[in-house]
Amino acid sequence: MNDDNNNETIMTDLKELLTQELVDAAKDAYNKAYAPYSNFHVGAAALTANGNIVKGCNVENASYGLTVCAERNCISNAVINGEQEFQLIVIYTEQDELTPPCGACRQVISEFFANDAPVVAVNHKNVQKIWTVSGLLPDAFTPKQLSNV
Ligand code: THU
Repeated sequence: MNDDNNNETIMTDLKELLTQELVDAAKDAYNKAYAPYSNFHVGAAALTANGNIVKGCNVENASYGLTVCAERNCISNAVINGEQEFQLIVIYTEQDELTPPCGACRQVISEFFANDAPVVAVNHKNVQKIWTVSGLLPDAFTPKQLSNV
């Protein structure tokens, strides 16, 4: 499939997948963020392969480097609840400039999501930006590499 067709398929899938329920879940997580140091609140919500919605927010620490982003907390929350496969993830902030996942989160997303799964940033004005997992982290190091050991 060429890139244009592939993007069209992703967009069609996305329209069906990205419900207001998911955006509301990401917003709800945003409202629970613990970010007293940066004051930069982030909420994430993922749709699992089973159709469940899981949430995560950023959780900072007085030892700043121990901060964990919303996306990674969202994925860990899902794994703890027995879900390891996902259809898409939404990242919610109240910034005019949309928030893409940081490098560490891109790596963790690549572990659990298909290459063509949508990663969606959305804000309080409902402005949205969509990437794919492999668009954010091409040639990711994944469990596939380890299967040759
Ligand atoms: N942060 C996230 O939670 N997700 C991102 O995609 C980018 C950054 C958090 C980490 C930290 O608590 C705050 O935003 C500022 O970097």
